[in-house]
Order: sequence, then C-alpha cells, then structure tokens
Amino acid sequence: MEQTEVIKPETLDDLIKTLHKIFESDFINVEEVQSIMEAYESNPHEWMKFAKFDQYRYTRNLVDEGNDKFNLMILCWGEGHGSSIHDHTDSHCFLKLLQGQLKETLFEWPDQKLQGGMLQKTQQILLENQCAYINDSIGLHRVENVSHTECAVSLHLYSPPFQTCQTFDQRTGHKNSVKMTFWSKFGERTPYETTISQENN
Ligand SMILES: [Fe+2]
Repeated sequence: MEQTEVIKPETLDDLIKTLHKIFESDFINVEEVQSIMEAYESNPHEWMKFAKFDQYRYTRNLVDEGNDKFNLMILCWGEGHGSSIHDHTDSHCFLKLLQGQLKETLFEWPDQKLQGGMLQKTQQILLENQCAYINDSIGLHRVENVSHTECAVSLHLYSPPFQTCQTFDQRTGHKNSVKMTFWSKFGERTPYETTISQENN
C-alpha cells in the first residue's frame, strides 16, 4: 500500500496551519488530508472553547474559514442526537472524532426502481481520533451518537465550503433543500437563529 509521509500535527492550531497549506493547491489528495486529520491526537483543552452543546439537537460550531477553501467546524452531539440522511453538495467531507463515538450509516442515492426507497450500504462505528471521508459519488450518510450516556464531539472539514445541502427521507427518497446554520462562530455563540430549519451535515 502506498503511504504518504505524514507529519503529526502537535496541536489543533498546528493542524489548522497544515490544512491551510494543503488547501492552497487546487488538487486535493483525500488520503493525505485524512491521514493528517487522523494523526492529530485530540486534546480537549485545545478545542473546548468551540464545543458548545444544545440540549435538543447537535450543534455546528465554526472553527476556521480556511481561506475560503474549506470550512472547519466542531459538531457537538448529545446523547442520542443524530443527523438526517444528507448529501454533501459536491464537496469533500472529512469527519474526525475528537471525543466519544459516532455511528455512520451509508446509503445509496434514491432509486426510482425502489419506489424512491433508499438502500442502506454499510455501517461503521467511528472511534476517537478516527477520520472518515465521504462525497456525493460515494453516497449519502446519516451520523448518530447512539450512546445514551456519553456525548460525542467531531471535527469536520468541508471543501469547498457550502451553506445548503439536501436531506432525504429513507422510506420515500423524498428530498428537501436545507440551509445550514452555525450555533457558534470562533467560540462565540451566534446571536440569532436566522433560519427556522436547521440541519447538519
Ligand atoms: Fe455528512
């Protein structure tokens, strides 16, 4: 197997600097980004200020705007919180576990032959420090913190950044376009709810 040399980022700041450098290029090596994100060893002291939880649903907290090349954010999942099935608007999506565990369920795009129903492909449990990757050609996914006792925190990188995605009903395949909002930006709570519907990716 081909291995790219990965220099381990020592801190979250270090990781962000490295990501800025990588994303200067227009060509993105998915394995390289995945390895670097995985190599960062989660240290809660470094990301605590971004990790803001809500009692009712998981939150999206903007960490860095990546020179307009990517958005880096921290998602905070309370016990039992989960996303809908969604796509990624033709962007790369990297998802690294900072704390706890998340279940990722992969789906195929809705198929007319199945009356629009959606086929479930695979499921995996993501453990602390693991980094998963998805894009629209791989399929759709749902992400859940299935634990009833532990919260989960994940670091997400989307490139290019996007503000809307599509969510899907598993039984019918019906889709909705959803605008996404941030619960906080750069450690500060976002003052107003600007949209009624809020979905995560
Ligand atoms: Fe996603």
